[in-house]
Amino acid sequence: MNAILIKHGTIVTASETFQGDLLIEGERITLVGQNLSHPNAEVIDARGKLLMPGGIDPHTHFDLEMFDTVSSDDHYTGHKAAAFGGTTTVMDFVVQEPPSPTGNGAGGEGSFAHSVEIWRRKAEKAAIDYSFHMNLTRFDEQVAADIPSLVEMGITTLKVFTAYNGRLRLDDASIFRALRIAKEHGMLVMLHAENGDVIEVLVEEALAAGHTEPIWHALTRPPQGAAEAILRVAGMAAVAEAPLYVVHMNTAGGVDMLQYARQHGYPVMGETCPQYLFFTQEHLRRPDGAKWICSPPMRTAADNARLWEALEQNIIQTVGTDHCPFFYDGTTPILYEGQPVAIPGKELGAHDFTKIPNGLPGVQDRMPVLWTEGVVKGRITPNQFVAYTSTNAAKIFGLYPRKGALLPGSDADIVIWDPGKQVEYGVKHSHQRTDYNLYEGWQLTGYPEKVFLRGHLIVDGERWLGHRGMGQFIKRHRGEILGSGRF
Ligand code: URP
Ligand code: ZN
Ligand code: ZN
Repeated sequence: MNAILIKHGTIVTASETFQGDLLIEGERITLVGQNLSHPNAEVIDARGKLLMPGGIDPHTHFDLEMFDTVSSDDHYTGHKAAAFGGTTTVMDFVVQEPPSPTGNGAGGEGSFAHSVEIWRRKAEKAAIDYSFHMNLTRFDEQVAADIPSLVEMGITTLKVFTAYNGRLRLDDASIFRALRIAKEHGMLVMLHAENGDVIEVLVEEALAAGHTEPIWHALTRPPQGAAEAILRVAGMAAVAEAPLYVVHMNTAGGVDMLQYARQHGYPVMGETCPQYLFFTQEHLRRPDGAKWICSPPMRTAADNARLWEALEQNIIQTVGTDHCPFFYDGTTPILYEGQPVAIPGKELGAHDFTKIPNGLPGVQDRMPVLWTEGVVKGRITPNQFVAYTSTNAAKIFGLYPRKGALLPGSDADIVIWDPGKQVEYGVKHSHQRTDYNLYEGWQLTGYPEKVFLRGHLIVDGERWLGHRGMGQFIKRHRGEILGSGRF
């Protein structure tokens, strides 16, 4: 069996930091300790480097059709980019297919099995390990009865929306019923929190008044909608005694509501994304403001600060990306792996902010940017960094300790992190398949040097050693509720 011994590293986990060696045999970590030896292992000297579990991004959208185009990274290009940023597992959202005109027979058209099969086919080119969440965007008795089949498929999470009227939104009764079913079957409901009705009214008014610029995207999606939707659904989760996970948290008010809910013993957890820590809606006023369009939108410097505080104080549990990239100018090809690629993007909304594809690149950026801005700047500890980028997601989503841990028996998903590496970051450095990067020109300190996926070296400095199809679908089990001490 193939053996690799990584020696003299500083092992950083979510709870401790110590000097040590890691032995990989085949696809697993088999020993963690000091002064390890092995008769025929390849030895890697990690002196001065940090050894961390491969990152887990719990929130991606690869190959997602929306806004008359498709997100520009697929399940290969996005995985490759993720790996260069230190992430070895991603969780993507499956679109719930419309019902079949002839009914949703078990496993047939309109069933969850059918929707998942479509995503499984898209992900055949996977280059890192992956899992799926299921979008729950229509709800009836047949759908309710079909939900437990997801658990058998290893999908233990349902995403619900309080916005996108007439498309993705569920009413409160359906969300409450979904929470109860989730509770009964050991699943977790994930929440996109905005107020769909308020957005609908404001968008209609803005368009009638002739407002077309990107800033109107933020002005028609007020931050209060996030706060009230979080508390409303957190309350429903408490009544249903079901866990809830709030995705892409972007507001101070939302953090306040999450904190309130957790202090009152509601089983609620939260995720933020790097874009909400650094940018504000003022970016949408720039001539290239469409680059920053995502839902929910970026808000103000005060919101950025409160989200950082939530990370410092463990009010929020994970940092995902909501990676959903589009080209800024989808009429001009870029070279990707030597081939010209152009995919319609943000230019689709040049004359109407409602037509700008919603979403941003970020799957590669997440860990290096959070390290520089979080750890190097002293806002969070290296252990919190590991918790937010890997271990907490593994625990919440039922992957731990196979993923998110450096323990004997864990998958050998390991990042050798060079804390001294200086990188001038930007689109040239990124493998995300789009023509811009939000962190263009940022000076980063600390970057992945080598990345292992189940014992296979897939990134070595600037070299890509991974390949299409090597990523595995990971069936998940019931996750943990990461508590505040009250639950
Ligand atoms: O703008 C975004 N985030 N697009 C992806 C869809 C979502 O709600 O996460
Ligand atoms: Zn969402
Ligand atoms: Zn998303």
